[in-house]
Amino acid sequence: MTVLANPAEKLLFEVSKPGRRCLRLPELDVPKVDVKVALRGAKLRAKPANLPEVGELDLVRHFKNLAQKNFSVDRNFYPLGSCTMKYNPKINVTLLSLPGFTKAHPHLPEADLQGHIELMVTLESWLSEISGLPAVTLQPAAGAQGEMTGLMVIKAYFESKGEGKTRTKVIIPDSAHGTNPATAALAGFVPLTLKSTADGSVDLAALKAAIGPDTAAMMITNPSTLGILEPNMVEIARLLHAAGAQLYMDGANMNAIQGMVRPGDYGVDVMHFNLHKTYSVPHGAGGPGAGPIAVASHLEPYLPTPRPVRNADGSYSLDSKRPDSIGKVRSFFGNYGALVMAYIYMSQLGREGVRRNGENAVLNANYLRAKLRGVYHIQNDKACAHEVVFTDKTQHEQYHISALDIAKRMIDYGIHPMTIYFPQPNVVGGHGAMMVEPTETESKETLDFFVEVMKQIAQECKDNPEIIRTAPHTTPVSRVDEKTATTNPQLYCPMCIA
Ligand SMILES: Cc1ncc(COP(=O)(O)O)c(C=O)c1O
Repeated sequence: MTVLANPAEKLLFEVSKPGRRCLRLPELDVPKVDVKVALRGAKLRAKPANLPEVGELDLVRHFKNLAQKNFSVDRNFYPLGSCTMKYNPKINVTLLSLPGFTKAHPHLPEADLQGHIELMVTLESWLSEISGLPAVTLQPAAGAQGEMTGLMVIKAYFESKGEGKTRTKVIIPDSAHGTNPATAALAGFVPLTLKSTADGSVDLAALKAAIGPDTAAMMITNPSTLGILEPNMVEIARLLHAAGAQLYMDGANMNAIQGMVRPGDYGVDVMHFNLHKTYSVPHGAGGPGAGPIAVASHLEPYLPTPRPVRNADGSYSLDSKRPDSIGKVRSFFGNYGALVMAYIYMSQLGREGVRRNGENAVLNANYLRAKLRGVYHIQNDKACAHEVVFTDKTQHEQYHISALDIAKRMIDYGIHPMTIYFPQPNVVGGHGAMMVEPTETESKETLDFFVEVMKQIAQECKDNPEIIRTAPHTTPVSRVDEKTATTNPQLYCPMCIA
């Protein structure tokens, strides 16, 4: 049978026909203007751009088809570990689309921004309550920018004490998120890696040995990227504070502990949230996110400006008169739309809902851990937090099937691959990690479907390994040569530049 090519599936350049248009403009009824004259010396292209010429229906079908190929939480299960790809309730966007939000301009006079400032003050107070830390800034536009802001605040604090030049090192466990050492280096500190114990927690003896008069801070991801809660946070905080250093907690994984424990209560001085992970702001493909930080009172003077504040008379204002502030880290108030969506989500949840989300996220991850134990190897098989890290040990040793192969095969079953090779092999016994984060938003039926798929894939590794090694089979493009794609990418379309 001949396979017939559907025009709706082709590139627009392939269906282009000279003279075909989506829209035809009426004859000119004003004097014609020469573009060269009108643009007076601007650089004009020598020949027209090579654009596809298509009708409106060609265009609509092309983009509808592309959009339907796009994988999203709205269409299928997306257990991407470390990324908390939870469902984003539609009411977030519906309410954010109200003219009061879409038509507001940050340059409006303070009197006209009262509701917006109140929203930010309220959101800050909720994050303060969840973190157990008294002051919050909403300005950072991503988790990594929150880390950067936190370390800049710590640096400003040490500079004010005359220790800016001596406190140069930041200790980071090897179970931390990859952005932590990168941020420490970018903020001008020397990152020191601390090897974790065999069970994935902080090695207290190694920490004691690493702490010195040059330690500025420790940056710890808790729960860690192994999906494990650090059991010794109180002692860790004590050791750092005894040496005059600060404790930074990467709180991007707050989905696991929100409403249950407050980092400020166990000695954390600064932490950031990822609102785009924990509080349902859509994310993926680079943004837009929000990475507010919460700080202890001794660090509050250094927070970015302006600070949204509630005045004694009940009005709201933006406080820019803060001499010790590190200044602005983002234009205006941060990614305001993301903040509004988090506010809407949290106001629907309430205190109880925030806690319940955390509990269910942990329950779901542990359910998968229990159901798939014995099917896939688990390096640290103890109660996990919001995510569970399997490895490819069994399938690799028995059938030469890697985590990458398994992840690709998941696509054929309509499930987004989990995060692979993170944490890195040295942290998971030299095997390929497969990190699964189901989130609290998935039903038991979806989790059971996932379990069945993963069992079936494990069976296929034995019965039909070739189908795994060559997966995916249901996508427009099958297995690509990943090495060539990263080392020698072809970043242009020959047809477009013809
Ligand atoms: C634990 C952890 N820390 C930091 C980050 C960085 O956040 P962002 O990607 O918003 O910069 C992430 C991102 O997923 C994360 O999972």
